Amino acid sequence: MCQLITYASPGIEASIGDLIIIADKADTKIDQAEDAATMEKIVALCKRRGFVFQSSEIYGGLASTYDYGHYGTLLKNNVKAEWWRSVVQERDDVVGLDAAILMHPKTWEASGHLESFSDPLVQCNGDCKKRWREDHLRENLDEGEELRCPKCGGELSEPREFNLMFQTFMGPVQDDQARIYMRPETAQGIFVNFKNVMQTTRKKPPFGIAQVGKAFRNEITPGHFIFRTREFEQMEIEFFTPPADADKWFKHWLDVRMRWYSDLGIRPDHLQLREHGEEELSHYSTGTFDIDYLFPIGWSELEGIANRTDYDLRRHTEFSGEKLEFYDQQSEERYVPYVIEPSAGADRATLAFLVDAYDEEEIGGRKRTVLRLHPRLAPVKAAVLPLVSKDGLPDIAREVLGAVRKVCVTEFDEGGSIGRRYRRQDEIGTPFGITIDYQTKDDQTVTLRDRDSLEQERVAIKDLPGVLDMKLKAEWRSPKLDA
Ligand code: GAP
Repeated sequence: MCQLITYASPGIEASIGDLIIIADKADTKIDQAEDAATMEKIVALCKRRGFVFQSSEIYGGLASTYDYGHYGTLLKNNVKAEWWRSVVQERDDVVGLDAAILMHPKTWEASGHLESFSDPLVQCNGDCKKRWREDHLRENLDEGEELRCPKCGGELSEPREFNLMFQTFMGPVQDDQARIYMRPETAQGIFVNFKNVMQTTRKKPPFGIAQVGKAFRNEITPGHFIFRTREFEQMEIEFFTPPADADKWFKHWLDVRMRWYSDLGIRPDHLQLREHGEEELSHYSTGTFDIDYLFPIGWSELEGIANRTDYDLRRHTEFSGEKLEFYDQQSEERYVPYVIEPSAGADRATLAFLVDAYDEEEIGGRKRTVLRLHPRLAPVKAAVLPLVSKDGLPDIAREVLGAVRKVCVTEFDEGGSIGRRYRRQDEIGTPFGITIDYQTKDDQTVTLRDRDSLEQERVAIKDLPGVLDMKLKAEWRSPKLDA
């Protein structure tokens, strides 16, 4: 089982605090116990409330690709914005980039992806002929158990390495010269721009470049909803450091990234750090830790933090002829920086926030499903609800909406019973409900309802924008931590 520790890994001596839980590989099989959030419930809520749809649904769907609806788009945008705020806006040692998805094909020779970015593929020789990732099958094998097809029990073929990069052709002729690749990680766009960015921003190591963008992998076994898909978004930082300081920065980023998740409401006991074994390391890495989250499918990777050394800059120097190095005028030293890479998935993080926020409770004999999202992540911050759609209440509500909208994303809903409208807002995680009732006509106050505590208070309309702004900026603690 997991244990709380302060850890010491080769070269990393310092404690990184009590957030850190280290797990053995065996721990990845633990099932999420007692929690209400099964994957089925999350998928159903996402569809019912318009967070995520199967892609190309009217044509029967395209396997493992998904479209984000209104609330899903708002939620994922908030996840990416919070990441950007934390790693770029609130620091002065990280700058941004938005590089093209399509890159010169030599990029992928230099990066090693053409040669090594593959997974071991086995095919069932029995009835079902299904294809599997051999390493994933082995993870679930008991000692002494023979590897067989999990679907039909058939014999499996010898493993062969299957390259995960999607190919396409640039221009009208489809030959080898025109072959290009859809980037399988956003990182390479950062490495090839190292010099451009360093010179134009006048940065010097230690500094980082951050990027959010799409990546594509022809995964052998995608699945578990938006956990593993073939098209997904990454939030990556390549942090360039003097080689001697690499371990110090590795520890720094482990700490910063673990705290980001828990500061945004993920329960710390649903997070753990797991160190990669030798055999698991990517071709560019000398050390990697995964931040794992306790998904309904068990402990699984949320983000990887790797020491990529000087591998990428050296390889791009070799293949492009462009020197990617830094000359330190103070020490008169010329060196190729090492790179610490915190690499997160925007879709996976969105899924983790959804799972961790999902709650069910009984109130007055009725079940309530509520997304207890951190207010900064919630797709909609406030809902304006006239008690009835007559007697002038919707007109007042529209005026309130106009004022509140200037402060935060606000929704107007006048259809159906007030109870049903509250339930709907609870399910999309709206932290505040503003109800306009008959008393409003008398004293220009409204009811402000808190999603988590269900407490209601009367607030004067003129004070509402200020009160909401203050509440949205206040410290927030998930009630699930105290449950
Ligand atoms: N540049 C390093 C890199 O790409 P990775 O561990 O392969 O490392 C980083 O990917 C993160 O990207 C993962 O932790 C995960 O959150 C996300 N990710 C990777 N493959 C994914 C997939 N097929 N679907 C959704 N997210 C994925």
